[in-house]
Amino acid sequence: LILVLDFGAQYSQLIARRVREANVYSRLLPYDVSVERIKELNPDGIIFSGGPSSVYSEDAPYVEEEIFDLGIPILGICYGMQMMCHLLPGGEVEAADHREYGNAELTIKQGLDLLDGLGDELKCWMSHGDRVAEIPDGFEVIGYTDNSPVAAVGNSQRKFYGVQFHPEVVHTPRGREIIENFLFRVCNCSGNWTASNFIEEQIAKIKEEVGDSHVICGLSGGVDSSVAAALVHEAIGDQLTCIFVDHGLLRKNEAEEVKQTFGQEFDMNLISVDAQQRFFAKLEGVDDPEEKRKIIGNEFIEVFDEEAGKLGDIEYLVQGTIYSDVIESGGTDDSATIKSHHNVGGLPEDMNLKLIEPLRNIFKDEVREVGEELGIPAEIVWRQPFPGPGLGIRVLGEVTPDKVTIVQEADAILREEIKKAGLNREIWQYFAALPPMRSVGVMGDERTYSYTIGIRAVKSKDAMTADWAKLPHELLEKISTRITNEVKEVNRVVYDITSKPPATIEWE
Ligand code: XMP
Repeated sequence: LILVLDFGAQYSQLIARRVREANVYSRLLPYDVSVERIKELNPDGIIFSGGPSSVYSEDAPYVEEEIFDLGIPILGICYGMQMMCHLLPGGEVEAADHREYGNAELTIKQGLDLLDGLGDELKCWMSHGDRVAEIPDGFEVIGYTDNSPVAAVGNSQRKFYGVQFHPEVVHTPRGREIIENFLFRVCNCSGNWTASNFIEEQIAKIKEEVGDSHVICGLSGGVDSSVAAALVHEAIGDQLTCIFVDHGLLRKNEAEEVKQTFGQEFDMNLISVDAQQRFFAKLEGVDDPEEKRKIIGNEFIEVFDEEAGKLGDIEYLVQGTIYSDVIESGGTDDSATIKSHHNVGGLPEDMNLKLIEPLRNIFKDEVREVGEELGIPAEIVWRQPFPGPGLGIRVLGEVTPDKVTIVQEADAILREEIKKAGLNREIWQYFAALPPMRSVGVMGDERTYSYTIGIRAVKSKDAMTADWAKLPHELLEKISTRITNEVKEVNRVVYDITSKPPATIEWE
């Protein structure tokens, strides 16, 4: 285990990821985690991330100094290195004459384990104001650049290292090797953390925790809940019951796919509830987006509750919480409460169930890897994000079964063409939306008065911001032609060329 302590850098997650990519398990914790907690976790090494602060600013984040007495190897990156040099005896940090930002050439004086095997010169990426002026007692300078006489330091006896540049970003092309040197040469990590080990570990853990109890899981067909369910099923088989609420607002064929995959192939206890009529009845005449969200969320809970109630003696609930959900809410500790993860709209709090969250400590791409390893089909493992209220917020205004069918058909064509063009894993989200308007067109010799379909395709990293995807015109043309030809009620297709902000990804 490697702990990455977060000092507020935009790259902290990336560091944790790079470590995992080297098959070493890592956890991201806030910088002020107690030394007691660190001792408990007993990591093989600690990485201090960069951060926006100066060690001299009033509220500069510092670690507890006892951390240096634990005998655990440390790598400080950027601010992390400055803070280490500032806190250790003999070290001194000063404000540099000018900021160093961007590419730099590192001259390596000596490898000292951390920079072994990297030659004499190294391209690296810098972003800092302050710099280390005096190195702490027992340290040596192992690399420098034109602007930073102290760009990399090490104390091989105590196994403390620092780099002023960022080895975790791609602009430091051999950064991966530096991180691997730290993991394998300095910390002696074994590097055997893989998806299959993770699965084995989790299975053992789930078995032990659950014993003979019964467990339920709300399956939405999304990536996280699917992988969580498959993992728990692998551990406890028929003690798990999954409930799939078909609210009629999924994409074309999706409900069948879920039933086929989990009910048939995985042979899970799957209760599939056809609740379409209930949802459509509740949505009749409602056109406010937030109102629709509330109705769909509440109805979901009601249906789920009813079904769970019929099962009797249930002790645990599986949730597909993943690492980014935990990090976002600041709760990096196992026991910390997390924001309620609602794939479909949140589950009732008064169910009084204990939670099982087997994916709580892994990233989305690792969730996908685990899913593939468990044999979940690629269509589910690589599914794009899909909002809980489903097509309920992609049919703008009042939702009716007819309109849902139109949007499903158009969306299926869009998905098929994007997949054929090989762009499906590159684009964050792409979908069809149906605005509540009709316009005039002409088909053959006849005037038409039909619906417009809006196509949305965006690139994003975290859905907080997004750029509209520059799809090739030929592809857009093909999609438009097919939709107007094959979906009878549509005579016009428009492409949304707004980014987020100012627009949002969804249209409602
Ligand atoms: P917006 O439209 O706010 O969407 O840019 C950001 C991301 O969140 C998804 N989304 C939702 N997910 N319940 C969800 O579970 C919702 O009510 C909801 N609304 C938007 C959206 O698909 C995008 O990925």
